[in-house]
Amino acid sequence: MARLNEHYAKLPASYLFPEIGRRVRAYAAAHPDAKVIRLGIGDVTEPLAPAIVTAMHTAVDEMGKRETFRGYGPEQGYDFLVDAIREHDYASRGVEIAADEIFVSDGSKCDSGNIQEIFALTARIAVTDPVYPVYVDSNVMAGRTAAAGPDGRYPGLTYLVGTEANGFQPAPPAEPVDVVYLCSPNNPTGTVATRAQLEAWVAWAKANDAIILFDAAYEGYISDPSLPRSIYEIPGARDVAVELRSFSKRAGFTGVRCAFMVVPKTVTGTGADGARVSLNALWARRHTTKFNGASYVVQRGAAAAYSPDGLAQTTAQIAFYMENARLLREGLTASGFTVFGGVHAPYIWLRTQGGATSWEFFDRLLDETQVVGTPGSGFGPGGEGYFRLSGFNSRANIEEAIGRIRRVFG
Ligand code: MLT
Repeated sequence: MARLNEHYAKLPASYLFPEIGRRVRAYAAAHPDAKVIRLGIGDVTEPLAPAIVTAMHTAVDEMGKRETFRGYGPEQGYDFLVDAIREHDYASRGVEIAADEIFVSDGSKCDSGNIQEIFALTARIAVTDPVYPVYVDSNVMAGRTAAAGPDGRYPGLTYLVGTEANGFQPAPPAEPVDVVYLCSPNNPTGTVATRAQLEAWVAWAKANDAIILFDAAYEGYISDPSLPRSIYEIPGARDVAVELRSFSKRAGFTGVRCAFMVVPKTVTGTGADGARVSLNALWARRHTTKFNGASYVVQRGAAAAYSPDGLAQTTAQIAFYMENARLLREGLTASGFTVFGGVHAPYIWLRTQGGATSWEFFDRLLDETQVVGTPGSGFGPGGEGYFRLSGFNSRANIEEAIGRIRRVFG
């Protein structure tokens, strides 16, 4: 009999969003007339921008002709996309990234789950709490932790707790850590790291020979030009940080799937003999072994997001979602909720009322308003007593959701 990976037994049976889906399906089955509004998982609802659709149609046609058909592409991504990324995301902000430092992939969820593979099992990992669950679960699966304790935390990980007092932007740890996952704009809290906070992280990483895994999947939602969109806008970050970017939320690719990771050749760790090893070389080995490249059609679509029309159209979509976030924030505030985020991110993070736990609030909101959100405790013990609503939906549904919440909560 095959012995299985016992570390999986340390995880809750179901990942957060399938569990929410299960509960919502059960509710809908018991209440067939209920019009449920889903503001739980951060899934885009606007159709692909016309410039992207046109580019993908053209690419499909190319694939249907002998002269222009393509088989396997370059594992790290086609030049047309890599060059667009370098120019628009980095050179335009004064950051020099080489083509071979970019790894195009089929999604940031995969990238953020896979990156831990290139670190030793003994690497000391820090996560913020609350946190995007993939960072934690993938390290548990790899065997870097013991079973979760009664507080829900996994011994072996360092938790940096986000609180109202620190604006959900915890400071670097005092204890020794090798790798830290940061996400800004933050999922789930919707808050954003300032330049000074990122400078402190880079200085800490340099002083402690640590590596920052910087998840910038929501950078497209930053509207204040003084806020960094990339960690590489911070001097020195090229020596200590890997950056994850995604087309999911910025160009509506949650169903299309395309992302990329930047692994500068200057970021190093140590090998068994203590010698410095480039993360870029290791990740290139891993990526080219386990991945055959994102599809040509998808990469053409992603590149079109950088065309003048694509930029204008996707920027308008983001503005639309951010107006939803503003309406939610204001409606919830008027109902007496204490809210965070929703200014440079599509997520609103609210404190539950009356001391309800996150799941109690989930049930109450579903029962009394038929609005689905995400319990804060699903993002870690630090999220208990909080709740996340997303601005991804139609305007009509957002307005309807706010109206229902106001009728119930005042
Ligand atoms: C979320 O709702 O937290 C995200 O949509 C999850 C993801 O991006 O994988």
